[in-house]
Amino acid sequence: MDTLDVDINPAPLQLCAQTDLRRIGANPNHWYPLAWSRELKAGRAIGVRFAGEPIVLVRPVDGAVFALEDRCAHRQVPLHDGVVDGCAVRCCYHGWTYDSTGKCIEVPYLGHDKLPNGVRPYPCREAAGLIFVFPGEAALAETVPFPILGASDDPRYRTRRFGKEVACHFSFMHENLTDMNHQFLHRKQMGQVRPRHRGMRIGHDWMEVDYTFGRTGGKQPLGEAAILGKRRRTGEQNHRELMTIRTEYPYQNLKIWTDTDLPVMNLWIVYVPLDREQRTNRTFGLLSIQRPKIPLLLELAWPVLVWFTERIFTEDRWIVEEEQKAHDAQGADWNQEVFPAIRELRALLGRCGLPISAQAERYLPPATCRPGPRSEADLHQAEAAA
Ligand code: FES
Ligand SMILES: [Fe+2]
Repeated sequence: MDTLDVDINPAPLQLCAQTDLRRIGANPNHWYPLAWSRELKAGRAIGVRFAGEPIVLVRPVDGAVFALEDRCAHRQVPLHDGVVDGCAVRCCYHGWTYDSTGKCIEVPYLGHDKLPNGVRPYPCREAAGLIFVFPGEAALAETVPFPILGASDDPRYRTRRFGKEVACHFSFMHENLTDMNHQFLHRKQMGQVRPRHRGMRIGHDWMEVDYTFGRTGGKQPLGEAAILGKRRRTGEQNHRELMTIRTEYPYQNLKIWTDTDLPVMNLWIVYVPLDREQRTNRTFGLLSIQRPKIPLLLELAWPVLVWFTERIFTEDRWIVEEEQKAHDAQGADWNQEVFPAIRELRALLGRCGLPISAQAERYLPPATCRPGPRSEADLHQAEAAA
């Protein structure tokens, strides 16, 4: 059966009719990559964002990367404009200095017994060429599982690191990857391909969808052959490969199998909201391709594979940005979704996320980060002591 047996006027699932999925924000109580490791050189700091929250990443010359609120406790200016000084960052304006825990350890014109409160620290880890931050409740960072990053550390694979800013709510990205029924969009790259939905499995914060594919016209593109590690003639490859897309909130993992237990392709991907309204995201993808028995083959095919995957990503990026523009122009999420897997995915994103409006209070500096009132007498006393 190549067509879907679905109710074309479905009742909404767990996502109630009043809930606009594009107004559900990403749940901050997870580990999110906010930058590639290569973007942060030793002895430097960079400013990144999670849903409008400014965060500075600091890499000391010696020592691990750390993350702080990117807002000097003195006058709110970004700390990423400052100077990395040992294992601390010194604000560019008056030189207030913060260690990796966010504690203010020096104010050049105050005594050390009079230091003000510091800034908020964030749990931070580096893995697979990515710098991860836990933007939510820091106490949960130890218990929330750190993601398994596809096959990026498996020597049997070569991994391409890719991603861009995309001007849409992250849920459009999730839906785009899960819904393989959009092959028509990729007809110029892929030829005529028809997916067959093979089933799905669902948990509270995860789901998996299986597909196979049949070619109904055109030749197999070289890029696809590079991914599968095989050339297939038209008609020969129909429904031979199995694709499984797993959403494990907030991450996605797409695997393709051909003849063996080891997937030929393993994509790990996440979409990090950038702005407060969560209308843009930065995509971080680790695309791992199994190395063939003759290693040189993959090296030769790599430029074709990069070109091919980039073309597909560009088409997907274009359409999800069109979806966001249409949503904004029309004022609400009026999708009439008929595919059960996408309806389930939307419900999953709804129950795992948080309303964007409820996250507004996250932008207020926590009380511990507000400097206490200081009197003129305090200042004079400190100057005299210094
Ligand atoms: S604004 Fe940062 S030290 Fe004054
Ligand atoms: Fe696509």
